[in-house]
Amino acid sequence: MICLGIESTAHTFGAGIVSKKGKIFSDVRDMYLTQEGGMIPNEVAEHHKEVKEEVIRKVIEQSKVKKIDLIAYSRGPGIGPCLHVGLNKAKELAEDLGVPLIGVNHAISHLTSGLLYTKAKNPVMLYLSGANTQIIALEGGKYRIFGETEDIGLGNALDKLARGLGLGFPGGPKIEQLAKKGKWIELPYSVKGMDVTFSGIITRVLDLYKKGEKKENICYSVQETCFSMITEVTERALAHLNKKEVLLIGGVAANKRLTRMIEKMCEGRKAKSYAVPLKYAGDNGVQIAWQGLLESGRVEKKADVRPYERIDEITVDFL
Ligand code: ATP
Ligand code: FE2
Repeated sequence: MICLGIESTAHTFGAGIVSKKGKIFSDVRDMYLTQEGGMIPNEVAEHHKEVKEEVIRKVIEQSKVKKIDLIAYSRGPGIGPCLHVGLNKAKELAEDLGVPLIGVNHAISHLTSGLLYTKAKNPVMLYLSGANTQIIALEGGKYRIFGETEDIGLGNALDKLARGLGLGFPGGPKIEQLAKKGKWIELPYSVKGMDVTFSGIITRVLDLYKKGEKKENICYSVQETCFSMITEVTERALAHLNKKEVLLIGGVAANKRLTRMIEKMCEGRKAKSYAVPLKYAGDNGVQIAWQGLLESGRVEKKADVRPYERIDEITVDFL
């Protein structure tokens, strides 16, 4: 069985073609980028509308597959107008090809595709994307959230900082580069139980920036502080759940400093740490195709979008 998956929850319109055995035939993406500003929902949706035909054409052409048996799309969580672009294109394709259509949860697809790309079996999952910062593990048939951000996601916090520093979007990679030349400044450290907050830290450093603090020092110190907070709660989750693996997922997992911190913590606990390969860390259609294949036994009653669907609402009976 071969599935074409469509991703359109946020900045990326992507498509991927994957087989039930986990063979990835093709992966095509087009990401909305800006030099200075952030993401404006309707502009991003416009971007997706402009690129969708080309992305789908390329993904089919590059795959060289003869037959597609299933279409999957990201139903949420995500930006409403962007989700609709993906849903409409998926509906159209399923109709044209005369194959079933299935909507999947974008966040779950990050987790399950993480298991496809790595050797992790039953890890504590650290899901760090734009909007999400969650420490997750599979317990009692559901992905349960053991810790999370109480305000904004780590990726969005980095993007907000980058915007304030005039670095453009996405901010994470630019901050990572500048951080290499920075020195330590003391910042608020915000962990409450298993939860974290980032807004206060960003507000503080943007204020320091106005007062003349160097961008490099800000980037370095924000990374050190926020990544330490994340590492601390991850270590506690490992101990509490008695697990021996950590899996880093989401765009922020591309950050080398963060992966190194988590690795060191794991070494100390004799646990293994895995990260989704750089190439698949950001949103893509492959993860959606894979989740579609996992859920391919299910018949979609009504294809819709679910901008706010949380992972702990979903029964995991497909692994
Ligand atoms: P979600 O999965 O919650 O819908 P998303 O689609 O925005 O969010 P991803 O594509 O997984 O998330 O990740 C994008 C985020 O990753 C952006 O906020 C970006 O700044 C961040 N990011 C990318 N590369 C790096 C890096 N090297 N260091 C830190 N952050 C990074
Ligand atoms: Fe994502």
